Amino acid sequence: MTDTNARKILVTSALPYANGSIHLGHMLEYIQTDIWVRFQKSRGHMCTYVCADDAHGTAIMLRAEKEGITPEQLINNMKAEHERDFDEFQIEFDNFYSTHSDENRELAAQIYLACRDKGHIATRKIKQLYDPKKELFLADRYVKGECPKCGTGDQYGDNCESCGATYTPAELKNPFSTISGATPIEKESEHYFFKLPDFEAFLKEWTRSGTLQDEVANKLAEWLDSGLQEWDISRDAPYFGFEIPDAPGKYFYVWLDAPIGYMASFKNLCDRRDDLNFDDYWAKDSDAELYHFIGKDIVNFHALFWPSMLSAAEYRTPTAVNAHGFVTVNGAKMSKSRGTFIKARSYLNHVNPTYLRYYFAAKLGSGIDDFDLNFEDFTQRVNTDLVNKLVNIASRTANFVKKAGGQLSSDCAEPQMLQDFIDRGDVIAEHYEKREYSRAIREIMALADRANEYIQEKAPWAMNKEEGREQEVLDVCSVALNLFRQLMTYLAPVLPELAKKTCQFLNLESLNWDERQQLLLGHSINKFKPMLARIELEKVEAILADTRAEQEKEAKLNQPKDAAPAKTEKKSSKPAKREDGSEAIADEIQFDDFAKVDLRIARIVEAQHVEGADKLLQLTLDIGNGETRNVFSGIKSAYQPEDLTGKLTVMVANLAPRKMKFGLSEGMVLAAGPGGSDIWLLEPHDGAQPGMRVM
Ligand code: MSP
Ligand code: ZN
Repeated sequence: MTDTNARKILVTSALPYANGSIHLGHMLEYIQTDIWVRFQKSRGHMCTYVCADDAHGTAIMLRAEKEGITPEQLINNMKAEHERDFDEFQIEFDNFYSTHSDENRELAAQIYLACRDKGHIATRKIKQLYDPKKELFLADRYVKGECPKCGTGDQYGDNCESCGATYTPAELKNPFSTISGATPIEKESEHYFFKLPDFEAFLKEWTRSGTLQDEVANKLAEWLDSGLQEWDISRDAPYFGFEIPDAPGKYFYVWLDAPIGYMASFKNLCDRRDDLNFDDYWAKDSDAELYHFIGKDIVNFHALFWPSMLSAAEYRTPTAVNAHGFVTVNGAKMSKSRGTFIKARSYLNHVNPTYLRYYFAAKLGSGIDDFDLNFEDFTQRVNTDLVNKLVNIASRTANFVKKAGGQLSSDCAEPQMLQDFIDRGDVIAEHYEKREYSRAIREIMALADRANEYIQEKAPWAMNKEEGREQEVLDVCSVALNLFRQLMTYLAPVLPELAKKTCQFLNLESLNWDERQQLLLGHSINKFKPMLARIELEKVEAILADTRAEQEKEAKLNQPKDAAPAKTEKKSSKPAKREDGSEAIADEIQFDDFAKVDLRIARIVEAQHVEGADKLLQLTLDIGNGETRNVFSGIKSAYQPEDLTGKLTVMVANLAPRKMKFGLSEGMVLAAGPGGSDIWLLEPHDGAQPGMRVM
């Protein structure tokens, strides 16, 4: 690769924790990154993609203990499992390593010592809860007890699920360690801190220098303006990690050596590869580009601590940190209790990974919005785009070429159309570069539509029935297959397996971006074999059924207490389940989300008991303009139907209709209160009229 325009690019995805399986939330990130890397490679750039398992921390230590193996055995097993999952999803790392490695130990020590020598490390004693039985300091998530406000039991040490109060673990009544059950005591010990406030000026500059998405930079600006805190980077023994060089019995907190794992994985690769040099990529004056792909939950680690540590130790800082949002399943946060915490393996057991790669790409932008994996939409989208539109171009035309001897026409019958397809590649490339994959896919599918229109209009199958039109049939099919090749060039970063099959079929070495300029004329192709089947909804449903079964089994095993809840499962205050089973609530929404809700004044023209329902009343609502709605509302415990007729209330008028056991509910009325007979329907003042918008 001697191209002088070739860029040197190092790319990472966040390092998955070694204490759990890869799930579909993770896969969004690895697929997003893999597409970007494959795109860069297709364009002829020197692009390297490294990752590793994040192998340290208390959770890993405890899990190994529970399984009766050493932490080393646990992380080796998990690494093998993770690698199998990634491989089947066609994630092509140049290196997948572990943070529990010699390279990482050395780099972590070196970076820490550089920070210490420059005066950026402080030490002081702090008090923490301690498990006297297990002889272990307890992170907040390992302490439970009764809410100091309302007395509800079995609450975590940060907030109460029942009354919503927030407090510190030390304030819990009758606290217990979730590890041993013992009553924690307060104990003092010395901790090491990274003096983040030293880097305030550097960070104010760095976070605004094009390294972050605007929405991320804005969020960080809030933290920067409210003052930075020193960061506790030490943990007391016993801890599975690296001992701090000048502090026996103290270990680096897992988040200190985790990002250094990016460097260590790359270093390990450099030792095996003649064409890669560590300093070229990490020295302060490096001209290589460095990109971290991460989820929005770990932005502070990558955009505050990490660049500060790098700059203190005189390494280069990242070119950009690319954050993405969270995967939700059918509209709600992935959750074990809902059975939507879908493991990569459960998916792989039933459905082809190519489909998920496509679906993620088709809906993913460069921002940090959450990504909803909706299984009906998924099935439909994949079948329509990939099977009906894309593969169909080849399957409808390949056999005519084969019958004519297997060689494409030596002249192109539609040079202008092909040129248009080639030219569009520049726009598509820009979208990929900016991680606007959904825009790239939209462009590509518009081209696929044109290719299909062309084939439909020419109808080679009809032509083929007429005598003397053999050449014309071959010409049309040759155009179609050339168009297909253009499309597959553009889709290859997303669909590597399909790209491989295309290379076999079209007898090509590769589908690299620039090679598309050369049309396939007088070129021999191979027999067309079916490339991709339709997805069946039953297969998709089987993923969910598996997941539910597995999670029920797990829940039983973990009763009565769960020793190590995953970070993403962190409890927040939730309202009780409604009768229709819904319970999702977001911590924070954007104004735009709120503005989508159509709140309107409605008059209750009729209210009735519902046969067989304990909590519901059926309401007929007049919402103005002669429109009425049927709504089921869980307010029976507080209202008699006859008290409601004629009342005004407020309803959500644009809520998608929901099929319930008793019929279709077309919206929701607003009420407040803790429940039981204490529920109050919102009642606007007289003068409000049905149909008025609530602002
Ligand atoms: N070990 C840390 C990262 C260290 S990087 C130096 C970690 N691990 S993780 O396994 O919890 O998450 C790995 C990546 O997956 C993170 O970028 C995280 O944001 C992402 N995701 C985890 N759950 C996710 C979803 N539900 N949706 C999208 N991404 C998610 O954090
Ligand atoms: Zn409470």
